[in-house]
Amino acid sequence: MYITSTNKLMSSFFIGVFVLLSLFGCQSTTLPVDYEQLSKEERIVIRFSHVVGEDTPKGLAARKFAQLVKERSKGYVEVQVFPNGFLYKDGEEMEALLKGDIQMIAPATSKVTSLVPEWSVIDLPFAFNTYEEVHDYMAGPIGKDLISKLDSEELLMLAMWDNGFKQISNRDHPINSPDDLQNLKIRIMPSEIISKQFSILGAIPKMIDFNIVFQQLEKRDIDGQENTLSNITSKNLHSLQDYLTVSNHGYLGYLLLMNKQFWGELPAEVQELIVETLVEVNEWEWETARKLDAEKLEELESCQCIEIYQLTPEEQQIWGDAFKPVYDYYIERFGAEYIDSLPKFRKDSP
Ligand code: LMR
Repeated sequence: MYITSTNKLMSSFFIGVFVLLSLFGCQSTTLPVDYEQLSKEERIVIRFSHVVGEDTPKGLAARKFAQLVKERSKGYVEVQVFPNGFLYKDGEEMEALLKGDIQMIAPATSKVTSLVPEWSVIDLPFAFNTYEEVHDYMAGPIGKDLISKLDSEELLMLAMWDNGFKQISNRDHPINSPDDLQNLKIRIMPSEIISKQFSILGAIPKMIDFNIVFQQLEKRDIDGQENTLSNITSKNLHSLQDYLTVSNHGYLGYLLLMNKQFWGELPAEVQELIVETLVEVNEWEWETARKLDAEKLEELESCQCIEIYQLTPEEQQIWGDAFKPVYDYYIERFGAEYIDSLPKFRKDSP
């Protein structure tokens, strides 16, 4: 079992804190809902759009959430999940949410950095070594500060879901040392910090929508990419790549976001149902993300379809040193407080 009782507590704490923080000043209707009495026309539909496949931590958790909400509300609340960017693509979903065309999305934290650039602290290379470190950071004062910045963008953050730690693949040569990235065109998510992370090592970062990474690799417009193993395998990206470096250099997780105005118009019972269901789904999602990541590594190790190199702790240290200028860049832009609270820099860390 991956989820410990500490994780359970943390998960409930998370949802509670996020919702309370985000809801400060947000009205809701208080009429009681008798689900049995409602007609089909009175159903509440929540359209949840995301960009990854259904066999990923986010895809599976979105489906589970939809199914539980439907069962528990006896069909009165319907969460319609649109995976794979079918409804809105990577670069479109945030705007659609803000306009109220959809009600829920779960973008990677990197994708909110265009709205709230301070969030790119999560993108800093080797900022976190474990999922617990991320969860602790987010539950602390800095996490709350980051969440309140989303709030002022009219976004309600309901949960944080894990995917995994990112690895680097390419078609040209093994990447063991930071120098091996020189001149490689690497697909990245839209984040200035991730862009810096690659450019200071002499690579050429390209911000490209997730849904077209396969095509871009196929056309050889890019040489490689960084992502989690479930994202790489679910889009079959590894079939176009010869080398994979298990570097665990960056965390990839999601912010479950709802349009705040829509939330405020939901009956209080429905809000409660959503929050309670998310506590359960959150625990399940965290556990599933870890299991899937381990399974995907095993699959890639046994398929003999890609050469895998795992960085040693000493090599990770060398990479970490090479990335120091990225931290300086972040501090120049946003000050040191977000970085000082990272587990590795905290004065009270063991
Ligand atoms: C990516 O663009 O690589 C990821 O953010 C996709 C996702 O949602 O996991």
